[in-house]
Amino acid sequence: MGRAMPNHISRRTALGLLGGTAVVAGVPLAHHALAAPSVDEIEILNASYSIIDGTITRGMVSTRPDAPPPVIRMARNTPYLAGVTNRLDDYTTMHWHGLRLANAMDGVPYLTQIPLGRDERYEYELFSPDAGTFWYHPHCMTMDQMALGLTGILIVDEDEDPGFDTDIPLNLRDFRLDGKGAWIDLWTARGAARGGTFGTVMTTNWEIEPAYQAPAGGLVRLRVAATDTTRIYKLFLPDTDAKLIALDGHPLPAPIDMPKTEETALILGPGQRADIAVLMPASEGQDATVFTDAPGAPRLLARLVSTGAAQGRDMAELRPLPPNPVAEPDLANARAEEFVFGWSPEGDLPNNGLCGSLPYTFWSINRTPWAGDAAEGVGPLATFRNGESVILRLRNESPNDHPIHLHGLAFKPIRSNKRTLPPLWTDTVLLQREETIDIAFVADNPGDWAFHCHVIEHQKTGLAGYLRVLDA
Ligand code: C2O
Ligand code: CU
Ligand code: CU
Repeated sequence: MGRAMPNHISRRTALGLLGGTAVVAGVPLAHHALAAPSVDEIEILNASYSIIDGTITRGMVSTRPDAPPPVIRMARNTPYLAGVTNRLDDYTTMHWHGLRLANAMDGVPYLTQIPLGRDERYEYELFSPDAGTFWYHPHCMTMDQMALGLTGILIVDEDEDPGFDTDIPLNLRDFRLDGKGAWIDLWTARGAARGGTFGTVMTTNWEIEPAYQAPAGGLVRLRVAATDTTRIYKLFLPDTDAKLIALDGHPLPAPIDMPKTEETALILGPGQRADIAVLMPASEGQDATVFTDAPGAPRLLARLVSTGAAQGRDMAELRPLPPNPVAEPDLANARAEEFVFGWSPEGDLPNNGLCGSLPYTFWSINRTPWAGDAAEGVGPLATFRNGESVILRLRNESPNDHPIHLHGLAFKPIRSNKRTLPPLWTDTVLLQREETIDIAFVADNPGDWAFHCHVIEHQKTGLAGYLRVLDA
């Protein structure tokens, strides 16, 4: 990370730099500092990078001046302190997508914190009861800063090593660049009112069709994160045996064969993740490839190249990932609410915050648009008691797809009017055109939790709101 301070800096020193109080939770710091975890200092800053060969793209946003936002790795059930400093002229916040953490650490402007101006710092105490693949991105000036690069993968490790030979994160996203690597409009009103504005360059870890070495005949854990603001990926691996082992941070009850053709591809909407176990070809130099179907023809996303002596691993050696501790909702006694996602009755609303809402209002939840800026006058869509079981009916009245994301809680899609859904825990469900899906969860994390479409142009033109979970 772009560290302003060495990684071993103590919480005490960090608080000192902030001019913070000398006492944390009633414990004098001199004692507390001994056991306190270190703070990972992260600066949000402008970056340059060669996305298109032979060109340099300037004005990107990352946490390193010359590289993509790095993978952040933390342990389950262990606090991880991230001190985020804004070095941009625009306001920002950081959000940790999919983590069931404390509400004050969720990074949603106005709802959970004040946006950070230039050189302001916020210390996020990340915590996750769940192991798996998550990600991070800003939640203020989101359309700009995400489109310009600020999306990174966050891994929460299992308590015990699940036994892969290697772990390869694939951060999938587009950029809107011309042939010389210069930015074109990051979004268009036409796109925002329809399916979103698509990038011109498809990348994996900011590279076009990268190749990674992996042990021949070995077992690889691919961690695919769809962090694009718009694109829905349709993944398939034509060349080798692979199994889907987790989706959206949560292990599947049993692994599923990964599709080998575009007709059967795994659909991954913006915000979603897939953990895939890949059995590498046994001979050195042979490839396993990851493709997405796309208009025109399938596109190569990444190539894994078999390297070294054959490991002779077998899919049968895969140990099941331990399930995450998500509470089962009581469906028979659950409280039911319905949300309609569709057009907005409002005209163009003024931007009343610092977080860069698009100057249009095209979308709404229950006909109430929220651009995710200033929260005054915007009430929760629903309020739940802590521990209440909930069924939400999500009704898509529009001819577009919407990846609907809920912060701070894990939910289970239980039925659809269009298809059979596998039983999964998730934080983001892709609601297809004119589809209705019921989701269920236990409202067991108190706070105001953002609830929005992850096509950022939809979110920022009204398809957003929040749910409130009371303390008691
Ligand atoms: Cu990934 Cu509210 O966001
Ligand atoms: Cu989120
Ligand atoms: Cu949407």
